[in-house]
Amino acid sequence: MPRRKVSVIGAGQVGATTAFLLAGGGVADVTMIDVTEGLPQGKALDMMHARMVRRFSSTISGTNDYAGIEGSDVIVVTAGLPRKPGMSRDDLLAANAEIVRSVAVEVVSVSPEAVLLCVTNPLDVMTYLAWKASGLPSSRVLGMGGVLDSARFAHAVAEETGADVDEVDALVIGAHGDAMVPLPRHSTVAGKPLTDLLAPERIKALVERTVRGGIEVVSLLKTGSAFYAPAASIVTMVEAVLGDTGAVLPSCVYLDGQYGIHDTYISVPAVLGREGVVGVVEIELDDVEAAALRASAATVAESIAAAQI
Ligand code: APR
Repeated sequence: MPRRKVSVIGAGQVGATTAFLLAGGGVADVTMIDVTEGLPQGKALDMMHARMVRRFSSTISGTNDYAGIEGSDVIVVTAGLPRKPGMSRDDLLAANAEIVRSVAVEVVSVSPEAVLLCVTNPLDVMTYLAWKASGLPSSRVLGMGGVLDSARFAHAVAEETGADVDEVDALVIGAHGDAMVPLPRHSTVAGKPLTDLLAPERIKALVERTVRGGIEVVSLLKTGSAFYAPAASIVTMVEAVLGDTGAVLPSCVYLDGQYGIHDTYISVPAVLGREGVVGVVEIELDDVEAAALRASAATVAESIAAAQI
């Protein structure tokens, strides 16, 4: 089988951790790109030094030049600024929109066949923008949001119930942010729905902890935001695409009619394969869940309009 190539744009915390997991796990050869000279090269060399001791043969390279990403199967976009003190969400949106727009144009000019996986926040808006700026079919542009939010929900459920996390299956859909939609009815411990296992107020507390998951990490770290669980979530999505597995993962995908939502990117369960998003799965939602998802999508649509994408 020909070796697979994944390019990671942005060699910061999320990008570099993703690169190391991908190469170390033998998933693909990886090229990292960053605007900072020496950063991707230095991190790539450090990772290459680990190959003999960890016995992996995938390669990692770093460059500041987009020519290096030619022939990529998947391109992961993590380039962007983290939110700094005094910076509003709108300031962050404007700054990252500029970065993601330019990155999307560059990557598609060099590697037009790739599947684009967006990670930069605010995620749903940036994924929509990457799709627009790239000119790619929407099936080949998706974002990492729901997998991470679901992983955080699973962690909260495992801690609360004492169950092994292996036994927990948790699902969060909707916007990656305060308007996310955790689905306790569709989340299980050893196959049993949470709604059959826990009292409503305990479920409410778990949902709140899930929504605050990212901010909980930020407030402990003080500088920067989460990167281990985000990188793990990216790798799971990349494996589904490269392996053409047809795995159903909550992914930020383009909706035009599904769930009654139009012209927005938001996380819902999607079938992933070699071409990117192979299908959108419309799970059964009750009236409250469906309304929450539509309200969540409306927040994304507002931001898209505000960013004039
Ligand atoms: N092209 C390439 N790289 C860029 C560009 C650009 N135009 N602009 C910034 N970068 C690089 C920065 O130099 C930095 O190395 O993006 C990297 C971002 O890394 P970090 O600041 O460490 O941020 P990180 O924690 O990795 O988060 C990246 O992912 O989860 C999201 O909210 C997070 O939007 C943020 C992104």
